[in-house]
Amino acid sequence: MSPSNTNKSLKKYNTFGIAASAKEIILLSEIKQLEHIPNLTGCSFIGGGSNILLTDDIDRTVVINQTRGICTVAEDEDYIELAVASGENWHDLVLYCIENNFGGLENMSLIPGSVGAAPMQNIGAYGKEIKDVLTYVSAVEIETLKKVRFTNEACEFGYRESIFKKTAKGKYFITDIGIRLTKRDHKINTSYGDIENYLKEGNITNPTIRNVSNAVIAIRQSKLPDPAVLGNSGSFFKNPIIEQAHFNTLKIKFPDIKSYPTPDGKVKVPAGWLIESLGWKGKRVGNTGSHAKQALVLVNYGGAKGKEVHALALAIQKSVLDTYQIQLDMEVNLM
Ligand code: EPU
Repeated sequence: MSPSNTNKSLKKYNTFGIAASAKEIILLSEIKQLEHIPNLTGCSFIGGGSNILLTDDIDRTVVINQTRGICTVAEDEDYIELAVASGENWHDLVLYCIENNFGGLENMSLIPGSVGAAPMQNIGAYGKEIKDVLTYVSAVEIETLKKVRFTNEACEFGYRESIFKKTAKGKYFITDIGIRLTKRDHKINTSYGDIENYLKEGNITNPTIRNVSNAVIAIRQSKLPDPAVLGNSGSFFKNPIIEQAHFNTLKIKFPDIKSYPTPDGKVKVPAGWLIESLGWKGKRVGNTGSHAKQALVLVNYGGAKGKEVHALALAIQKSVLDTYQIQLDMEVNLM
């Protein structure tokens, strides 16, 4: 690879560690730099690069968001509202909040990626989603450079969904978000079985937000591969939601199938279970495979091409569809 190609490699800007290249890379440290980028509408944007799969080289300029800053917007005795720059690392923000005793993010500890990417897919883990604390998303409309603010409601949040993956897709550059956190009487949420077990083992009966964060970190580290060691993008697929009647039919044929009821009377089936049941868990195909401890996570064993990972994802989708008549949707965005 020539030195100029090396400089344009996106390998260190995506947690899958895919060695695709860009036409040009621009590191953005301040929002006002956007005004000076020619042909902004023809650019692609990457935040923490933790929810993308680069299936090919990108024949465009890629803007990497590295903006920083956390500041207080409003505060009283009970709550604090923070404005956080989109280029901040998500887990660093969580740690900052734990240090300062601001509650609300602890269940979402150690999620890879940037603050700006978090509302796009309404990140969530262990019983909490960013929509539970988010007050607003500020953005710049890429075509006009006009500043826009979305309220929580305007973001149209759903399970790993938001307006930024639907009608607003590709139209905005998220600049900062607002989050409202507790300063006392934290709403501790330990309902997720794994957290309860961890706390019980440690004889922790009255958990603090730091205890919950430590529990989540330990659980994640026990089954989710560290992207710095083994390239990955977290859950590759969403957990599918199916009709009750469909589930009832499956339950007769596959009595061990796992499920969770959804508020609207449907059934969520863990994709990890479906994938594992078909023998994919821990199976390696070339330089990629489904992780040995979490079937829902596809990994790069080193040198994998995005196309290879994509082919594996398609094969998994097909086998799940053939056996269970369930269409698995990708959580990861293809670029
Ligand atoms: N399971 C298996 N085999 C597997 C993996 C999971 O059978 O290989 C079954 C088990 O029955 C388990 C159930 O699936 O009890 C749920 O597994 P887990 O608790 O690991 O959670 P998940 O549903 O696989 C979701 C999120 C994760 C989040 C965890 C914890 C999605 C797509 N994924 O995973 O989010 O950390 O719950 O809340 O909703 C991500 O989005 O990137 C992500 C990692």
